[in-house]
Parts: sequence; C-alpha cells; structure tokens
Amino acid sequence: MFKINENYLKLPGSYLFSTIGKKVKAFEQANPDRNIIRLGIGDVTLPLAPAIIEALHMAVDEMGVQETFRGYSPDQGYEFLRKAIVDHDYKPRGVDLDIDEIFISDGAKSDSANIQEIFGPDNKVAVCDPVYPVYVDSNAMAGRAGDYLPEKEGWSRIIYMPCTMENNFVPEFPKETPDMIYLCYPNNPTGSALTKDQLQKWVDYAIEIGAVILYDAAYEAYISEENVPHSIYECDGAKRCAIELRSFSKNAGFTGTRLAFTVVPKALKCGDVSLNGLWARRHGTKFNGAPYIIQRAGEAVYSKAGQEQTKAQIAYYMNNAKVIREGLTQAGYLCFGGVNAPYIWMKTPDGMTSWDFFDYLLSRAGVVGTPGSGFGPHGEGYFRLTAFGSLENTKKAIERIQALNR
Ligand SMILES: Cc1ncc(COP(=O)(O)O)c(C=O)c1O
Repeated sequence: MFKINENYLKLPGSYLFSTIGKKVKAFEQANPDRNIIRLGIGDVTLPLAPAIIEALHMAVDEMGVQETFRGYSPDQGYEFLRKAIVDHDYKPRGVDLDIDEIFISDGAKSDSANIQEIFGPDNKVAVCDPVYPVYVDSNAMAGRAGDYLPEKEGWSRIIYMPCTMENNFVPEFPKETPDMIYLCYPNNPTGSALTKDQLQKWVDYAIEIGAVILYDAAYEAYISEENVPHSIYECDGAKRCAIELRSFSKNAGFTGTRLAFTVVPKALKCGDVSLNGLWARRHGTKFNGAPYIIQRAGEAVYSKAGQEQTKAQIAYYMNNAKVIREGLTQAGYLCFGGVNAPYIWMKTPDGMTSWDFFDYLLSRAGVVGTPGSGFGPHGEGYFRLTAFGSLENTKKAIERIQALNR
C-alpha cells in the first residue's frame, strides 16, 4: 500500500485569502449597492509596458518560422537574458556575477519553495514573523518544520524572529542558532527595508555561525532610499553565505506572465560542495526552462524603453503608496512601509484585532485589506494595504477611511 507524505497532513489550512474572499462575497451579496475597493491582494493591475508587448509579439512571430523556432530553453535560461540581468541588475551596483550564477525560472514563489530541497532535512530554519508564508510551508512539506502547534500558531522546529514596531520590523539575531535564514527585503507584508549596515550585520552573522541566507528581493525595484541595498551581494562576503531570489512580477508586471531568477554564487559552499552545482543539478532534473517568448519579454525589461516604462509603472504604484500612507497618517493612524515597498503596514486602532479591523473597514468603508495576523502571530494588531490599485480607487478608499473619523 502506498504511503503519502504525511508532512502535508500537518499543514494548517491556508485560510487567509479564502476567508477574505468569502467575507467579501457575503458582504457584496448582502449589500449589492455598495461599491467595494480592493486593496488587499499583492497583485499588479497595470498592463504590461509597450516595450514588453512588442518583444512578446516579435518572439511569437519567431516561433512560427522554421529558422527562428525554439524548442527547450537551456536549463539555466537563455544567455541573452542572463547577460542582461548581470549587466543591468548587478554590475551598476558593483556586483560582479558570472552568468552561470543566474538561474532563470518561472517564479520566485516556486524558487523560494524549491530552494530548500538542496539543504539537509535537519537544518534549523529561521523566519521573520510576520512572513510570506511560502518559506515556512515549503519547509513543513519537507519535514523540516516539526509539528504545527495551534496554540502557538507556529511550528515546533521553526525559529521565529518577531518583527514589530518595537524593533522597527528588523529582526534580532535569534537565541537559537539557525542553519537557514529567510530574509525578505523590501518586506512583504510589513513594507519595511534594511539599510546596507543592517544587512551587512546579517551577512557577518551568517558567516560567523555557518548559516545560509535565502534573500528574497522580489520588491527590489520599489526601493527609493539611497542607503537601502538592492542586492544582498552589495554586502561584503555575501557571495559566501547568500542565495538571492528575484522576480519580474512586481518589477515589470509579470505576475501573469511568469518570470524570475535565482542567484547562487559559486563561492557559496558547504565544505567542498558548491551550492551552485547542486541547484544546477536540481534545475536540470526538475525544470525545463521558462518559455522563450517570456524570456525575450524579460530581456525587453532591460531595454531603454523597457526601463523607462517599468520605472513609470513603479512610480505610479509608489504614488499610491504615498497617498495611502499620508492619508492614513492624517487620519490619525500609525503607518509603516510604503517608502521602499508597495505595502503599507498599519497599526489597528483602539486595540482592535486584525480581523476586527478588516470587518470594520469592509462594513463601514467598503475597503478590503489584509489582516496582519494572517502572516503570523506577530502580525496581530496590524493590517496591510497595497499600492497596486488604481490611483482613483486608492484616493477614494482613503477618503472613505478618513470620513469614518468625522
Ligand atoms: C516576498 C515574495 N516573494 C515572492 C513572491 C512571488 O513572486 P512570483 O510572482 O515571481 O512567483 C511574492 C508574491 O507576492 C512575494 O510577496
């Protein structure tokens, strides 16, 4: 009789977005005349930039012609894209990477879930709390998280690093020594960022204790402050201790188009074993490449027009972030984030729980956000709004929230 991977049975239900969906649907049915503004889910809304669409059309045409048709992509991705990444994302920041250190994929979600496969089953994993849930769930599926403890709302073998307004959403080094440390900056959900000095301390710490940092920089393009690093490799020694995850989803609106990459430096080793070689082996066996036409679209992001157009989209979203942050601050709310990230993380008023505030905003203002407690126990008492809506809706949502105070 076959057996299943029982680790899957330990996973608690992922209720966050389905519960939100159900509550919103019930409200809409009960109040068909109310207009609802959704500032909850972290998905882009602007269409792909013209330079990207043009590259897609050209690549589609190539696929229909014998001479230019392409089959399987090289395992690690086409050289034209990996070279564009090295030249545009890294070289200008003083980071020298070999194109063999770049692995093209179809998403940072899958990369951040899959990367744990190349590490031993007994490694101790540290995550921020609140956190993007994929890091914890993927380690739980692999049996590395121990047991889920409902009373703690956490796993017995995961090291949680609280990130709250008291520590400015920057975790302290944990008491227990981790082997694998997940860091995501600019952060989803708190919208916070690390300065270069702060990130350097994590790199030094990881080298000292022999840990690997899995650095998710999916929101790198939203950084506006000078002292915030775009890549962990801007820190000294990071190539010896860090893997970096990047995505085209939020940089260039590829959430539905799917393209990302992971950097595994050759200098990152466990004894004599290069992690670059292990990830190459894993990639070669389990992944057959992102589509040619999508990789061409990714290349177009780095063209002059592509850079201008995607930067304008990010500026549009970040203007929304400013509208939210300033508008809510004026209305007396305590707000964080929204400066180097498209997320505004706000303290719920009057000691309300995250879900109470969700219900309050939905019923009184017709605005949907995300309860902070859905991202981990230390998210309780916080609430996330995203800057990915239209400017018109964003303004309307904030006006409605402001009007509640009158
Ligand atoms: C922190 C973080 N990493 C990764 C992802 C997923 O990126 P992708 O669309 O490339 O799978 C998201 C998406 O919201 C995210 O918030």
